[in-house]
Amino acid sequence: MSLYRNIHPFTYMPPTSETTPEKIEQDNVCLVRGNGSWVYDKHDHSYLYATTAVPTLGVSNPDILSPLFEQYKTLSFSSTCGQTHEHLLPLSEKLMEITDHRFEKVFFSNDGSGAIETALKLVRQYYQLKGQPEKTKFISFDGNYHGTTLATGAVTHMGIQESFGPSLDGCIKVPTPDLYRPPVQGTEDELVTYCLNELEDKIVKENPATIAALLIEPIQGVNGIIVQPSTFFPALRNLATKYDIQLIADEVTTGIGRMGTWTASEAYGIDPDLLVLSKGLTGGYFPMGATLFSKSISEVIFGNGNVFLHGSTQCGHPVACTAALTILRLIESQNILDNVVTEGSHILNSFRESLKNHPNVGDIRGKGLMMAIEFVEDKETKEKTSFDFGARLSKLLHRYGILGNYFNSILVLYPPLNISRDESIYLIENVVAAINQLKVEGTV
Ligand SMILES: Cc1ncc(COP(=O)(O)O)c(C=O)c1O
Repeated sequence: MSLYRNIHPFTYMPPTSETTPEKIEQDNVCLVRGNGSWVYDKHDHSYLYATTAVPTLGVSNPDILSPLFEQYKTLSFSSTCGQTHEHLLPLSEKLMEITDHRFEKVFFSNDGSGAIETALKLVRQYYQLKGQPEKTKFISFDGNYHGTTLATGAVTHMGIQESFGPSLDGCIKVPTPDLYRPPVQGTEDELVTYCLNELEDKIVKENPATIAALLIEPIQGVNGIIVQPSTFFPALRNLATKYDIQLIADEVTTGIGRMGTWTASEAYGIDPDLLVLSKGLTGGYFPMGATLFSKSISEVIFGNGNVFLHGSTQCGHPVACTAALTILRLIESQNILDNVVTEGSHILNSFRESLKNHPNVGDIRGKGLMMAIEFVEDKETKEKTSFDFGARLSKLLHRYGILGNYFNSILVLYPPLNISRDESIYLIENVVAAINQLKVEGTV
């Protein structure tokens, strides 16, 4: 029996003695090629690829591949440590432009976790240099996901870090205004007021002089597309200013057009001090993260010259910069943001209409091209569906040619931003058919 050598991230691995390559391929789709919104497995079965927010403009897109091939031929690698290359500045300028020149500088890393880690360190160093070294704590919201390193895991509140023993000290959790599963009952306004009061109480109790940053995830992605009331966000800016706390907008998922605007910060008027991008920025053509930060942080840390003792050997990679610049220009020249708004609302409205009477569909939510369908055993009690329900649904979706992301009774879908109307119709019809099929006894 051949042994399977790879451990997959966030994936159940069967007992070692049973983990064969065949078993892994049976439980996990094995993709061999892709084209735009479509990917194909070994048996040439096609799937519409909506698993993650990474493929901004689809996979193996020739408009992106040709500049990348050129870049590989011209300069396949350049360090940015004590060196530079010709794509770093244009990409930095472009990021300033799409964020309306609210930020002064950008630091590149290799993924979303690296970019959040960078934000946390920038904030810590900012307060060190301002003579407030006791400002070290981080506040973030229940259900936020910020990454997988020890520090980004410590500000993530999804029950993940507990597997690894004691976490970073001073990482504080506050309630989220989750409209479907609210921490308190009441109207939307009452929910917002409750969460803001809880946050302010926590800031005061912990002592504002010890708090460095507040991290927000404008729509919680990993937690199941938790869309929060838009009235919540301007109030966060006010609290951050009142207590001299840096506001970090984690837009690893929501950034680069996912909501139909370049960023969620723009859509919600968040005005953060730091803004973090990754996934869609390079669309999966090369990994990259970016941390944009304010003039005041820049002045304090770099105003008189300084070394940021942080970074990794391959950050700011020229191929990543080429991918990002190409994607940003294509989003503009192909009016992709408009497409996100049009197709996003078409898909969401169609799901709402087609599934409104399904006994197990508890909630349908989303914004732009990030959406979720939450399943329940009972619409009144909102009890989550069984593991078996999820396993059956995932199989059915595969059979209907859809690759989504089912986790914790929630189906999350991130179609590519350039999805066509025909592809949207395919997505709607096949997701609805798979979900309706679940009602029919003995089909799976
Ligand atoms: C909001 C958010 N922040 C940070 C991360 C971490 O990004 P990465 O997986 O690229 O390290 C993720 C990943 O899912 C995310 O959704």
